[in-house]
Amino acid sequence: MSGATNELTLQQQVEILRQQLAQAQKLTSLGELVSTTTHEFNNILMTIINYAKLGMRHRDNATREKAFEKILAASNRAAKITNGVLGIARNRGTDREATDLAQLVEDTLVLLEREMNKYHIRVEKFFQTVPAALVNGNQIQQVLLNLLINARQAMSGGGRLTIKLAHNAEENVVELVVRDYGGGIPADKLPHIFDAFFTTKQGPDASGKGGTGLGLSMCRDIIESHQGRIRVESTVGKGTAFTLKLPVAPAKAPKPAPIAAPLAAFESDVEPAIQ
Ligand SMILES: Nc1ncnc2c1ncn2[C@@H]1O[C@H](COP(=O)(O)OP(=O)(O)OP(=O)(O)O)[C@@H](O)[C@H]1O
Ligand SMILES: [Mg+2]
Repeated sequence: MSGATNELTLQQQVEILRQQLAQAQKLTSLGELVSTTTHEFNNILMTIINYAKLGMRHRDNATREKAFEKILAASNRAAKITNGVLGIARNRGTDREATDLAQLVEDTLVLLEREMNKYHIRVEKFFQTVPAALVNGNQIQQVLLNLLINARQAMSGGGRLTIKLAHNAEENVVELVVRDYGGGIPADKLPHIFDAFFTTKQGPDASGKGGTGLGLSMCRDIIESHQGRIRVESTVGKGTAFTLKLPVAPAKAPKPAPIAAPLAAFESDVEPAIQ
């Protein structure tokens, strides 16, 4: 009896440690993102300051209008970035809801845009129209960040990164593929890449990312907790593709049946709402 209790306690302890690990990993990636986005934020501020100065120096309408346009565009981008980072920091829940994965990918790319440019990574998107997936957006964003950063790191001299979104109606899943055209993963390493602490990186790179070996193990935990699948295909010298399969969200409950005539007649007397 006591053996069983101990075992349970041990399992519970493992579970608690797993959760702490996931939390630590989340904070690490948040820290990494903050350092990337702070640089970008600074660049945006420089743009705003410079165009504000330009507008003050040149009083003609055309120049001022252009300056205002640039300031507005830069400020909008800054707002998107802070919203993205705050969204990750704030959202600690594990609730799942019908989520537009295309939008989630876009939101994630906003956070990595500067980094991808810096490393000469060309991001190409091939999005089919897909149904909403039943996921925790924040967790899937964590997965995406890991996959995208791994892909970027696999192409140190720059290259192409494709993101595909498709609906697999047969399996009732949305498929998301992140493919890079980098060095690939040797066959002897491939079975280990999802192991916690497996890494071939020598610590963080110049952007402060990578090297703990927790990225993919966390990805797998998250995807499995969604009853999804994560699969890797890799060819040395050609590149690597990670495929996520995530459950399609059930259709919304149907609207109540149309109201019968008497009530409809009554409703027609109601003043239309102001649009
Ligand atoms: N797209 C890829 N191309 C080539 N190798 C990859 C790719 N993705 C992962 N790997 C290999 O799998 C290993 C484990 O990846 P994982 O994301 O778990 O850890 P990491 O990137 O080394 O560190 P971090 O915990 O900071 O993400 C990497 O060190 C790398 O050897
Ligand atoms: Mg990684």
